[in-house]
Amino acid sequence: GTPETRTPTGAETGAPATANGQQGAYLTTSQGARLRDTDHSLKAGPRGPVLLQDHHLREKITHFDHERIPERVVHARGTGAHGVFEAYGTAETVTKAGFLRKGTKTDVFVRFSTVLGSRGSADTVRDTRGFATKFYTDEGTFDLVGNNIPVFFIQDAIKFPDVIHAGKPHPDREIPQAQSAHDTFWDFVSLHTEAQHHTMWNMSDRGIPRSYRTMEGFGVHTFRLVNEAGETALAKFHWKPKLGVHSLTWEEAQMISGMDPDFHRRDLYDAIEAGAFPEWELGIQVFPDTPEETFEGIDLLDPTKIVPEELAPVQPVGKLTLNRTPTNFFAEVEQVAFHPGHLPPGIDVTNDPLLQGRLFSYVDTQLTRLGGPNFSQIPINRPHAPVNDMFRDGFHQQAVHAGVAPYKPNSLDGGNPFVAGDDEHAFVDVPVTVTESGKVRANPVSFDDHFSQARLFWLSMSPVEKEHIIRAYTFELGKCYHQAIKERQLQCLANIDPVLCAEVATGLGLPAPEPTVPIADAAPSPALSQLGREWPGD
Ligand code: HEM
Repeated sequence: GTPETRTPTGAETGAPATANGQQGAYLTTSQGARLRDTDHSLKAGPRGPVLLQDHHLREKITHFDHERIPERVVHARGTGAHGVFEAYGTAETVTKAGFLRKGTKTDVFVRFSTVLGSRGSADTVRDTRGFATKFYTDEGTFDLVGNNIPVFFIQDAIKFPDVIHAGKPHPDREIPQAQSAHDTFWDFVSLHTEAQHHTMWNMSDRGIPRSYRTMEGFGVHTFRLVNEAGETALAKFHWKPKLGVHSLTWEEAQMISGMDPDFHRRDLYDAIEAGAFPEWELGIQVFPDTPEETFEGIDLLDPTKIVPEELAPVQPVGKLTLNRTPTNFFAEVEQVAFHPGHLPPGIDVTNDPLLQGRLFSYVDTQLTRLGGPNFSQIPINRPHAPVNDMFRDGFHQQAVHAGVAPYKPNSLDGGNPFVAGDDEHAFVDVPVTVTESGKVRANPVSFDDHFSQARLFWLSMSPVEKEHIIRAYTFELGKCYHQAIKERQLQCLANIDPVLCAEVATGLGLPAPEPTVPIADAAPSPALSQLGREWPGD
């Protein structure tokens, strides 16, 4: 038979079960020798000096000295919870993914995060929030690594180091921790105007959620679904909180940052432990898989664009319930490793250039953060499907692999030939046609529209929401030291909406510029221009 490549349980290796990582009534060394005293070092007499031969002293301090691992390069501040996902069966016509079959229950782990602050930063800052879900499906792990904002700052992953350098604290003073109150952030988003749509969401109440339990989540990119018949469709993933979407006011966010920097973390754990299990519905917007990869004129490969729900309703496909808090924060929340390329059969990537770069980045950073290539053996990262990957050795190897022939086919180890998965159960890449135009470093022309959807978002806001947006831009831009940067951002606002621009300019004590591009009232599709909600008194 085929030797199974996986981490043996404690029972299989002869060791006692290690659910809590420690056993026995007595304190021991790491080698299991009982200790009599852990409070005094071994000394040459009561007044010292301390002896180098004190093994327990050296071992205890050495292990402590190495307790820290690097924090995530982004999304360092986070919290997590376990739960279950139950499928409604409504996605069966568009994807063969087994975890979406009616009634299927799948274990999940979710990590929520801010993006820019360090591990110890405050929860209620104005920032995007991460919403990363690990589905431990029978067909392999599916990671939906999303955010609470449906668009992203940039269209191409090659700019990710740049946008993060601009958003993180200034390299000289290491301030501020909050996302947007500084020159480099506004310098970037006013020069890379594709960032204006995401920035508008950040300046809205979406940038200061009340609770992780009241946040939407979005897969952002368009994915390609494949059904049993091999037919494909394009789709975007949405999480809809059962409690509805709620935000803090700016004043609440400020006060809570000081009074309880752990507000969101505490809220999630307290709710779960009180039995008020938070729930989300997973939904999909589905689009025909056409060669253009557009829908109603919207480029589905452009991650700075949404498809309004009025044009493509979000169809519920299942329900997520978070019902268990972590036992150990480090083991679970810190060591969990998500990857947008962890996909089950039935869900495939598209050519979105932001998604494509992410497929490289996550495992690359985790090799450093989690100390080598075996982090999928860490308990929180272990798939719940059988693993037989022929990966061997490396730092922190936990498995004791049997057999001599980790290659296929081989004529040893039982002579097992390579057994390929059948088409039904294996992940088969969709044979998408690749452009024949030759290599280019350029975007499609449709990526040039940077303002129309920011305008659509602005126009869809109620008067009080607009007021909050104006105040947020005014406050955050007011923190910039460089007037030229404020003026350049005002120019972007002028290109989005003259009223918004005039209000922020007044707040900053600067003149409001004229638009430099025609106001993009009619977005790519005629249908879109009809979508601005009308509010009484607007
Ligand atoms: C981490 C979402 C774009 C690189 C994360 C996390 C989330 C996330 C939720 C935190 C995962 C966790 O809780 O452990 C997104 C979304 C994106 C996006 C929704 C755009 C749609 C990118 C891009 C890159 C990138 C373009 C790089 C080219 C990273 C890295 C981490 C990370 C390096 C740290 C991972 C780790 O240390 O385990 N991202 N991200 N992200 N992201 Fe992204």
